[in-house]
Amino acid sequence: MAWWHMSLNKTVFFICVLFIILSVGVHFTPNFSSISIISLLNGASPNYRNPCIDFLHSIEYKNRTECADRPVEKTWSWMQSRPRVATCEFKKLKKPDASVMLNRSWVVFAGDSQTRLGMISLLKLVELPERVRKVREDLAKLHTDYSTFVDSIGMKLDFKWKPYVRRLSKLMLEFKKNKKYPDIIVMGAGLWDMLYENNVSDYDASLRGLRNSLQDLNSKDRRVQPHLFWLGMPTLINSKLKTEEKRHNLTEPRRIRYDNTVNGSKLLNKFGGPCLKLDIQLLSELCGPQCTKDGLHYDEIVYDIAIQIMLNAMLIESTHKTHF
Ligand SMILES: *[C@@H]1O[C@H](CO)[C@@H](O)[C@H](O)[C@H]1NC(C)=O
Ligand SMILES: *[C@@H]1O[C@H](CO)[C@@H](O)[C@H](O)[C@H]1NC(C)=O
Ligand SMILES: *[C@@H]1O[C@H](CO)[C@@H](O)[C@H](O)[C@H]1NC(C)=O
Ligand SMILES: *[C@@H]1O[C@H](CO)[C@@H](O)[C@H](O)[C@H]1NC(C)=O
Ligand SMILES: *[C@@H]1O[C@H](CO)[C@@H](O)[C@H](O)[C@H]1NC(C)=O
Ligand SMILES: *[C@@H]1O[C@H](CO)[C@@H](O)[C@H](O)[C@H]1NC(C)=O
Ligand SMILES: *[C@@H]1O[C@H](CO)[C@@H](O)[C@H](O)[C@H]1NC(C)=O
Repeated sequence: MAWWHMSLNKTVFFICVLFIILSVGVHFTPNFSSISIISLLNGASPNYRNPCIDFLHSIEYKNRTECADRPVEKTWSWMQSRPRVATCEFKKLKKPDASVMLNRSWVVFAGDSQTRLGMISLLKLVELPERVRKVREDLAKLHTDYSTFVDSIGMKLDFKWKPYVRRLSKLMLEFKKNKKYPDIIVMGAGLWDMLYENNVSDYDASLRGLRNSLQDLNSKDRRVQPHLFWLGMPTLINSKLKTEEKRHNLTEPRRIRYDNTVNGSKLLNKFGGPCLKLDIQLLSELCGPQCTKDGLHYDEIVYDIAIQIMLNAMLIESTHKTHF
């Protein structure tokens, strides 16, 4: 009996000790963020093969305030109620993590005003609010290139005004010629082709040209290749467009035809291409017509989400590679 009581006491004691060790251990085990957030700029070429890539756009918006006198403020999250989305452990990155990821990087946004909004969303993640405000002012409505440097992490961020796809191809050839490649390239164009060129077969040819120029960029014996993203066109709210020309030319049926062409061009990862699509059309549609004033440029939250999707895609790729 005595022995039994002794050992029971001991057992209880050991269980308690074990419990404490475990809980301390769990407490100090690095979580998802601290394990995987390392600078992503020395990895091999990304190919977006991780199954979680398919769930990156499974997001939902919520209304934060419902006061009658104030506009509805939206928030968003990944659909944690969906088990497959939850297991992917997507994470909204904040400044410290984003700074580690983008430390000493060269990031280029090239395209139209949609892409420019994407650039602002990325800048917001790593730069001081007053500097972001300044850049936002500098950039407003300017059809021009822009370059900025985030001193705190030595990050170079360029915006290249390339509203037509064929100008994107030229830019890629410039990178090749100079043998200097950005770490991340986010591209997107189509609205100007729709509005001013009105020839979908020309658009198709430009996209194929771009795809070829990217293959040049991604082949050869370069160990480190840029992470490539395609920032898609938004959902068009025709009744809100500001000019007759836009209302006439920028319709949803035409947008779908142009997007179909992008699908067919093999530019996108889903169709065997090198770019991961940031689906602004989906993100803007989910946000709804109240998220745009001019039927074309949406509230910043839409582009913020696109940037979080982009960074999570890069994280997934990097953890995938360390596991296999
Ligand atoms: C078991 O531990 C309790 C206090 O923790 C003590 O009062 C009791 O005498 C112990 N029993 C034996 C058999 O040692
Ligand atoms: C994960 O670690 C980061 C810092 O590395 C911390 O800010 C965050 O709160 C942690 N998250 C959890 C769920 O513990
Ligand atoms: C959020 O607010 C918008 C605008 O007022 C409204 O149209 C929408 O139905 C609301 N969504 C939810 C889920 O309450
Ligand atoms: C950026 O990299 C430098 C050197 O590689 C390092 O000293 C610094 O701590 C890094 N900063 C961040 C925010 O990761
Ligand atoms: C579109 O451009 C191609 C070649 O650039 C031309 O052959 C074709 O006729 C044009 N289509 C229209 C509708 O203008
Ligand atoms: C675009 O709009 C202008 C002005 O309304 C019109 O002349 C032109 O034909 C339109 N282009 C297309 C493709 O509908
Ligand atoms: C392009 O492909 C995606 C993915 O398969 C699909 O969801 C989308 O509807 C396609 N877009 C068009 C315009 O066909």
